[in-house]
Amino acid sequence: MPANKQQLLDNRPEGEAVASNFRLVTAQTPELKDNQVLVRHHYLSLDPYMRGRMNDSKSYAQPQPLGQVMQGGTVGEIALSKNPKFAVGDKVVGFGGWQEYSVVDADQPGVLRKVDTTHVPLSHYLGAVGMPGVTAWYGLVKIIAPKEGETLVISAATGAVGSAFGALAKARGCRVVGIAGGPDKCKYAVEELGFDACIDYRQHPDTKSMSQALKEACPKGIDGYFENVGGYILDAVLLRANAFARIALCGMIAGYDGQPLPMANPALLLINRIKIEGFIVSEHMEVWPEALKELGTLVATGKLRPRESVAQGIESAPEAFLGLLKGKNFGKQLVKLI
Ligand SMILES: NC(=O)c1ccc[n+]([C@@H]2O[C@H](COP(=O)([O-])OP(=O)(O)OC[C@H]3O[C@@H](n4cnc5c(N)ncnc54)[C@H](OP(=O)(O)O)[C@@H]3O)[C@@H](O)[C@H]2O)c1
Repeated sequence: MPANKQQLLDNRPEGEAVASNFRLVTAQTPELKDNQVLVRHHYLSLDPYMRGRMNDSKSYAQPQPLGQVMQGGTVGEIALSKNPKFAVGDKVVGFGGWQEYSVVDADQPGVLRKVDTTHVPLSHYLGAVGMPGVTAWYGLVKIIAPKEGETLVISAATGAVGSAFGALAKARGCRVVGIAGGPDKCKYAVEELGFDACIDYRQHPDTKSMSQALKEACPKGIDGYFENVGGYILDAVLLRANAFARIALCGMIAGYDGQPLPMANPALLLINRIKIEGFIVSEHMEVWPEALKELGTLVATGKLRPRESVAQGIESAPEAFLGLLKGKNFGKQLVKLI
């Protein structure tokens, strides 16, 4: 059985997460028992939610245990099988964590899913045709529920969730405005992802300036907002929201290292009769098949061409993850292992 390099959570962050919170070890892979498979991971997914789990605090999910392999989504291929449902060479998506191999009890429901890589590259099953894509779909379809012609805004617009949101919203005939960090990301949002406009928040670092930029990009006001960031951007959106606007509260990455994110004027929620709803995509497994079907079609037909930031090798996972929390990624952040 192969040696298996793993990244463990060694200690919990105090404030900002740092590389020394992680520890690289090499473990020996155990022999397979009946119904188990050995998965060789091709890509690890790095996702902002992992930052929350590094803390030992109350949340919707259990904290990441100390001294154990960092949990996370993976895609790979079956390297050895003692399970009749999986053959060597099958491509699979699972939750193998930050390591090169995982041994999986493949009979447990939902732990491993075979995927077809004929029209969709394997890595996209961690992004546009995976959890981030379904996240965009759920917030858009089930919470914002847009009508054709409405104006929608999304922060972190060029990331894994944001890029899928753009394609899904354009397919529903909406005006879609992104907010992203820097001119390159904004250019890409408009030219490659099909956004109608994109605002570089670094050029608009306060509520007043951002609100003015939103006024220009959204001349008919904002009907739906998909929130990934929090802070003054949310304050600015509220100033431009139409009556009965809907906000899908997906993430607040600006506060993941513990920064407070006060809301300047919550009375606007009342004045504009706004619906705001938080959600966790893994609690809505019932929508996944429908969402993945639409997302898979968008990718296979070239209507969604998601970009990826790919770090090389398990050693690079901590730095790539810390970069993701600072916007250094450009598209879905992955670690390529082979
Ligand atoms: N609720 C759920 O079930 C669920 C599921 C998946 C993801 N999410 C959330 O969805 C959001 C996007 O996730 P993703 O996987 O698609 O990540 P991503 O957008 O690919 O990467 C994160 C992006 O966040 C932006 N960012 C980071 N720090 C920021 C800050 N302080 N202020 C403003 N923007 C900042 C950066 O983009 P810029 O350079 O453009 O700022 C960065 O590229 C995250 O908030 C995540 O927690 C929620």
